[in-house]
Amino acid sequence: MAREWLNDAIFYEIYPQSFLDTNGDGIGDFQGIIDKLDYICDLGCNAIWMNPCFKSPFGDAGYDVEDFYEAAPRYGTNADLKRLFDEMHKRGMHILLDLVAGHTAITHKWFKESMKDEINPYTDRYGWSDTEWGGDRHYNWLCGISERRGGAMVNFFAHQPALNYGFYEIKEPWQQPVDAPGPKSTLEELKNIMRFWLSMGCDGFRVDMAHSLVKNDPESKGTIALWKNVRDFLNKEFPEAVLVSEWGEPQKSLEGGFHMDFLLHFGPSHYNDLFRCEEPFFSRRGKGNAYEFVKKYESLQAETAGKGFICIPSGNHDMDRLARSLSGSELKVAFGFLMSMPGVPFIYYGDEIGMKYVEGLKSVEGGYLRTGSRSPMQWDDTTNAGFSQAPSDRLYIKIDPDPNRPTVKKELEDSHSLLHEVERLTKIRKDHKALGNQGDVKFIYAKENTYPLAYIRSFEDEKILVIVNPSYKDATFECDLMGKELIYSVGDNATMDGKTVTAPAGSVSFIKL
Ligand code: NOJ
Repeated sequence: MAREWLNDAIFYEIYPQSFLDTNGDGIGDFQGIIDKLDYICDLGCNAIWMNPCFKSPFGDAGYDVEDFYEAAPRYGTNADLKRLFDEMHKRGMHILLDLVAGHTAITHKWFKESMKDEINPYTDRYGWSDTEWGGDRHYNWLCGISERRGGAMVNFFAHQPALNYGFYEIKEPWQQPVDAPGPKSTLEELKNIMRFWLSMGCDGFRVDMAHSLVKNDPESKGTIALWKNVRDFLNKEFPEAVLVSEWGEPQKSLEGGFHMDFLLHFGPSHYNDLFRCEEPFFSRRGKGNAYEFVKKYESLQAETAGKGFICIPSGNHDMDRLARSLSGSELKVAFGFLMSMPGVPFIYYGDEIGMKYVEGLKSVEGGYLRTGSRSPMQWDDTTNAGFSQAPSDRLYIKIDPDPNRPTVKKELEDSHSLLHEVERLTKIRKDHKALGNQGDVKFIYAKENTYPLAYIRSFEDEKILVIVNPSYKDATFECDLMGKELIYSVGDNATMDGKTVTAPAGSVSFIKL
């Protein structure tokens, strides 16, 4: 079962490089996050997921860890990180660190040892084939830099060797079963890493590529069993700890003991149909289709009932910014949906002010096309948008050069801003359990290529009808329900005339039933 605090959690994802630089080196730091905790609270978020902040050569923005037990000096020390935990707890907030469970950097001492010809305790820490050219063509191989013969399996970029948690189906002689000593010791070390940070006060982890650990595991049975094992360990030693997976298949991840899983821009969820495709459902053009998303969501809901949360994020550090495909009131309507669906909401830093995807940037730290979604937070109209005092050519990533770029300051001064809309939405979500994380959802109007989308949220005795119409024209549907009170709307209010409900163009209405 989910930890209690998750029932009311609203997360804010922070890419620490780009949030706030307090020491003038052009890159964000832990102190910057501490300085902005009140801002995050005012937005209505009470939890943070922070991208990896550990020592790293930063070939993949920190998803290439060199030492799992040490904070990257550019963000601060372990003691500073602990201060962040403490400052958050003082405010009743929670923090999840990013656990890169599937691979390390090639500069990690385990990998350096593992590359040696002599057998040592790290020989089997990674998946090594017995020939330099790798074996199984299904995987990519890292070879040519070790004295040891063979190739190391790659988990993501070529410089991220896969940790060895074993193979579910053994197809080649060098592949080890999950209960072989090498895979078992990798798993025990993963638990040690979790123990270390949980003992210091973090509240849990977002697990990177959680689906990827056991290899040759077509139905994920081996990986699910591995996570069940981890869950048992946590239940015994850290029963409050929370896990969210980057998996994208909640029917598997929640089975494995994760408390929540994301719907993502990859995987079978149709999440992209809503926000990031040629004709997203949330575009004013009104040519989108939410139907496939709804069908998939309903089946996931049925499969995962009572097991944990399905989270629909506003975006993340790997996706195009929401504001690349949507703008203005479209963003408000999209947030009206995000803040009225079940599961735990995740807001990617800057999405609450409509930060743009910065086009044409050179890749930074393996970001490639993702770099445009990782630009510095835009706080105000001072130097570097208030992100850093460093000369602008020393910033980690260039700031959005648009003179009209949104900033927190401008949005705070405008009562009609997206930021204020998001604040009001997080508040109404907290005030009404039916709109919250645990409540149920039943879609009552979701037709192919048709607007609006309507669903009933409920929790105990409370029932709220939500009607979402992102398109440029009014949309109607027939319904037998009797609305008692319109409790909130983004844009104009929906009206009910007999059985006909009219949802005005660009609106979301919450009607108490
Ligand atoms: C998923 C992370 O979100 C992404 O940023 C990273 O590059 C890969 N996993 C590899 O760790």
